[in-house]
Amino acid sequence: MTTSEPLVANLEVGGRAPPLVQQVKDLFVLNPHAELTVSPSLSVCRWSAPLLQRLERSMSSVTIPPPACMLRPLETPMRYLFGPGPSNVPPRILAAGSRPIIGHMHPEMYEVMNDIKRGIQYAFQTENNVTIAMSGSGHAAMECAVFNTVEPGESVLIGVNGIWGERVAEIAERMGANVHRMVKTPGGYFTNKEIEKAMEKHKPVLFFLTHGESSAGLCHPVDGIGDICRKHNCLFLVDTVASLGAAPIFMDKQNIDILYTGSQKALNAPPGTAPISFNERACHKMFNRKTKPISYLFDMTYLSNYWGCDGKPARTYHHTGPVSGFFALRESLAILAERGLEESWKKHKEVAAYLYRGLEDLGLQLFIPERDLRLPSVTTIAIPNGYDWREMLVYIMKHHQMEMTGGLGPSIGMVMRIGLMGYNCEKSNADMALNALADALKNCKRSKA
Ligand SMILES: Cc1ncc(COP(=O)(O)O)c(C=O)c1O
Repeated sequence: MTTSEPLVANLEVGGRAPPLVQQVKDLFVLNPHAELTVSPSLSVCRWSAPLLQRLERSMSSVTIPPPACMLRPLETPMRYLFGPGPSNVPPRILAAGSRPIIGHMHPEMYEVMNDIKRGIQYAFQTENNVTIAMSGSGHAAMECAVFNTVEPGESVLIGVNGIWGERVAEIAERMGANVHRMVKTPGGYFTNKEIEKAMEKHKPVLFFLTHGESSAGLCHPVDGIGDICRKHNCLFLVDTVASLGAAPIFMDKQNIDILYTGSQKALNAPPGTAPISFNERACHKMFNRKTKPISYLFDMTYLSNYWGCDGKPARTYHHTGPVSGFFALRESLAILAERGLEESWKKHKEVAAYLYRGLEDLGLQLFIPERDLRLPSVTTIAIPNGYDWREMLVYIMKHHQMEMTGGLGPSIGMVMRIGLMGYNCEKSNADMALNALADALKNCKRSKA
């Protein structure tokens, strides 16, 4: 039956009634726009959606009707996710995430979690025992790191050269830390000398830096900073949400005390899980606090037990982890392990270099002038003179089903961003992105300005 045909319900009048409510419901689902007409014989009725709703309501204890949108099937478009994340998820990871779920505390689930832990240790290049995945996006890891290692009133130093430093500063302020910002305009970076000077002044217990500043497209050097932090008895916290798997990072060798990432960028898993690792220095600080962390959900005392990192014989219930998300994360880490980190870094660098050439051939200017400081996963271009970046992005989405984005936070109006990460990191995708940009440059209005 098509939805344009009148729906007919044969109702026995006075006889044994058919299951009327069910029949009405079925009709309503089939055609919510049908109109009611009653045949002279009263044996044939055509029902309208509003009438069905009224009928249902009068027979039901609920006063809010089921929303019409929930009676339609889920529809999602196919998009090329060439923005700063999430990126497209390969079929193998999608398949892992759609496996039948098991209990979050079944032994098989603990095995999956143990595998994830080992996968993260490889991806982070660390032997840290306290290595887990947060049930939540990158922000969950960000908050977990700050909430557990900082107590109210303690001094924290934050490198702000884009949105992420500012975000962590706000998180630290909300939990009562004494926050000191080192600020650069988007794309700027901090020298080790500047960092040490600020550390001497503010005596922080924690220094935060974003490795892959996705809002500006900058890959910040981290060499030597861990040593400075040790010298000043300060923990070194690094955000690699946008850079892990795309640019080299060595947690242990670079003396990074706390490192986190997200699942949805170069790891190509769906959003919603976030790997994080704490070394012994970080554990010493967070497990010898005077006060409890302000978040129960993110309390590492419980989370390290849930992940089997605290040496206790039993894992006890803390929260219900995202089972399907963990399956997908495990698969994404398995793909990274099979491929190898060095191969993954090389590929991102090569494809990024190919993209840079193509962008320059189109007459576009890369936002980060120093090639070695560019983030290989997210490339930023200066907004071409006279163009409206919003119009270009809308055009690209409409005509190429492709996501690229503008800036974020302080880089809004300064850049457009193209992300080619993990599964999406292919020269053929760079060609598609370049083709879409060339088309937008040709067809979007150029102002006289
Ligand atoms: C560098 C960086 N840090 C943190 C985040 C926040 O991650 P999420 O959106 O998964 O919470 C992002 C997200 O784009 C990011 O690029």
